[in-house]
Amino acid sequence: MLKVAVLVSGGGTNLQAIMDAIDNKTIRNAEIAGVISNNAGAYALERARAKGIEARCVSPKQYDNRELFNKALLEETQKLNPDLIVLAGFLVAIPPAMVEAFPYRIINIHPSLIPSFCGKGFYGLKVHEAALARGVKVTGATVHFVDEGTDTGKIILQKPVMVEEGDTPEILQRRVMEQAEWIILPKAIDMIANGELKLG
Ligand code: GAR
Repeated sequence: MLKVAVLVSGGGTNLQAIMDAIDNKTIRNAEIAGVISNNAGAYALERARAKGIEARCVSPKQYDNRELFNKALLEETQKLNPDLIVLAGFLVAIPPAMVEAFPYRIINIHPSLIPSFCGKGFYGLKVHEAALARGVKVTGATVHFVDEGTDTGKIILQKPVMVEEGDTPEILQRRVMEQAEWIILPKAIDMIANGELKLG
């Protein structure tokens, strides 16, 4: 059984997709060891608790500086003893020490086709705002390994999604989630749990 730690910041629909995929066996041989949020009000925490999954908050607000927060985040994650860390809408920069402690053991979902609309400042709705402003006709989502850069790690899976006439950032975000994110993130976890992906 692959033990997965899921890090979240917000609504947790990607976390929900992972939990559902474990329940319906789309993800084989994996279990969620725990969920960590940087945001105490994240609905994702409630989703986890409703499933009986250990869920805790590690917020930068609880610490005097970024270094102490980074240390606590790493320690809380290590306590779960995970084989894999999944960033499922985790909108905090991953500390270098964490990348070092879990090489090719951290994956992230990003709501665009990397290398478009990614890197510093591109997260959540901002990604879809930028895609619409540029007028692209196709967008999508990417699952990638996390390295020391922002959205620069090796790409694991991508799935395209069409932009449609009249799209707002919210409508496009929802379509990218439904048609891409909620499919490729569970798929990547299943591949890792079942030795179908080269780690490194
Ligand atoms: C998702 O769209 C995810 O791809 C994005 O945040 C959203 C979280 O939604 N992540 C990033 O932008 C990372 N750079 P969720 O909390 O409902 O899963």
